[in-house]
Amino acid sequence: MMPLPALPKRYHPASIWALYAVGLLPAVWTFYLGATGQLIGNPVKIFEHLLGEWALRFLILTLLISPIRDVLGINWVRYRRALGLLAFWYVTMHFLAYMVLDKRLAIDVIVEDVFKRWFITIGMAGFVLLIPLALTSNRWSIRRLGPGWNKLHRLIYPIAAAGALHYCLSVKVIGPEQLIYAGLVALLIGWRLVRPRYMEWKRAARAGGARVGSPRQQTE
Ligand code: HEM
Repeated sequence: MMPLPALPKRYHPASIWALYAVGLLPAVWTFYLGATGQLIGNPVKIFEHLLGEWALRFLILTLLISPIRDVLGINWVRYRRALGLLAFWYVTMHFLAYMVLDKRLAIDVIVEDVFKRWFITIGMAGFVLLIPLALTSNRWSIRRLGPGWNKLHRLIYPIAAAGALHYCLSVKVIGPEQLIYAGLVALLIGWRLVRPRYMEWKRAARAGGARVGSPRQQTE
């Protein structure tokens, strides 16, 4: 396979900021449409829906970074933090849209929803788990937490599962859209489970190839 042209290192920080800017565009655009009365139908629901879907998309993109590196050899790890934080900001906005625009800060109704409506309980669990990940997405926390940081950030898998399940349970009839998101999340969790074996196999294949290709082997 033709390798992708590598982005010169000096452009890496700018490309990460560009990702933040592009990633926030759907929210800004829909907010603009809502504020100018151009969201036809139920603007609050459309806004809530859009923010929830983008949260799930960014969670999936965050999980994709590792298989893309392992299987295709493309290292986009530098974008993972931005993608994870974008997912967090979209979930936060989705939650705020629900609290402020949908429920008009009726705390009793919100508390009842969180404890009585399963899909909201699951969404809330995903959101709460995402908070420590967002708070520790910085170099200082990586240094402070050491190996514990990796363990903590593995929570992204159950969080994505909670997001996909929450989406499936939020509708009366599960359609192709929900199935696609849930299927992608299931595939990525499956990948995480088989990854250690795949990496072992890849290492063994590389070591075997190197041995076959070594000058000593060829002359023997
Ligand atoms: C990881 C966290 C979450 C993700 C990824 C997520 C994602 C989604 C998605 C994709 C939808 C479907 C959009 C639609 O078709 O309407 C949805 C719906 C919904 N979510 Fe979330 N959500 C999360 C957390 C939350 C939280 C914390 C709340 C509130 C406590 C919440 C409240 C809702 C509500 C009320 C709906 C239904 C909107 C409607 O009636 O159409 N979500 N969410």
